[in-house]
Amino acid sequence: MQSFGVVRDARKVFPANELGGRATEPLVALDNASFTFDRGEFVSLLGPSGCGKTTLLRIVAGLISKTSGSIVVDGHEVTGPYGDYGFVFQSPSLMPWRNVLDNVLFPMEVLKRRTPRAVARAHELLDLVGLGGFSRSRPHQLSGGMQQRVALCRALIHSPKLLLMDEPFGALDELTRLDMNDLLLRIRAETQASVLFVTHSISEAVYLADKVLVFSRRPARVAAEITVSLPAPRTQASRFSAEFSAAERKACEALGVLTAPASAAVQERAA
Ligand SMILES: Nc1ncnc2c1ncn2[C@@H]1O[C@H](COP(=O)(O)OP(=O)(O)OP(=O)(O)O)[C@@H](O)[C@H]1O
Ligand SMILES: [Mg+2]
Repeated sequence: MQSFGVVRDARKVFPANELGGRATEPLVALDNASFTFDRGEFVSLLGPSGCGKTTLLRIVAGLISKTSGSIVVDGHEVTGPYGDYGFVFQSPSLMPWRNVLDNVLFPMEVLKRRTPRAVARAHELLDLVGLGGFSRSRPHQLSGGMQQRVALCRALIHSPKLLLMDEPFGALDELTRLDMNDLLLRIRAETQASVLFVTHSISEAVYLADKVLVFSRRPARVAAEITVSLPAPRTQASRFSAEFSAAERKACEALGVLTAPASAAVQERAA
């Protein structure tokens, strides 16, 4: 059976340009990145800063074009933006003049599907993420974690089969982040969506994923694919199991953090 998502030899070269009179070289952001993911599978993407993870997500979403290679989602070659995914960015980017409910329903307005059923689903999702009492609040009246939960509801309102998440919890404090991880696992179980989840946190990547993809330094290609076979349901206690440590160790090895001196790892992140 064909996988739900197939990324084959994806390559992206940003062309040279002249900014402020200084010509830049063409920049190879992705180099023959290949991997597959199944329907309902949760895939975490780890890799050094600047290696091309956001570029890859944007290509999978059809927001930018690839230079070569093939991306197939649910049997269709991705050639431009399509409706069947939800995208969650690092910052919630809610519309400050709209209340929570209207922010969640915004995609349905764009799709001209703001029906009573959609409104009911928005309330259901807000209940699911613990924001049932805040549907009339404005974004500025919510904490960062609450705003990110609204962004998650907005990404899920049209019941996408694919959820693309680019460091969605990177700006949150540790405890809120742990809560959001559990919430995301619950939502994933409820919606059966496939998830591609970019994070810089090795333990978050392992905790959430069925499979962790570790990308090389730019240009990104898949350096390791780690299957995480933690028993379900996962709880915060799973983090202290031998399986969890083993998966974290494999990810650390693939990222080179166990062999490189600390200063080299820092330079790599700054590059
Ligand atoms: N529109 C663009 N034009 C030119 N270069 C770009 C563009 N977008 C990204 N790049 C370059 O592509 C490379 C990969 O960027 P990308 O944002 O995909 O990295 P990343 O892995 O998401 O990094 P981070 O972990 O820091 O978010 C970087 O060198 C970046 O400068
Ligand atoms: Mg990025």
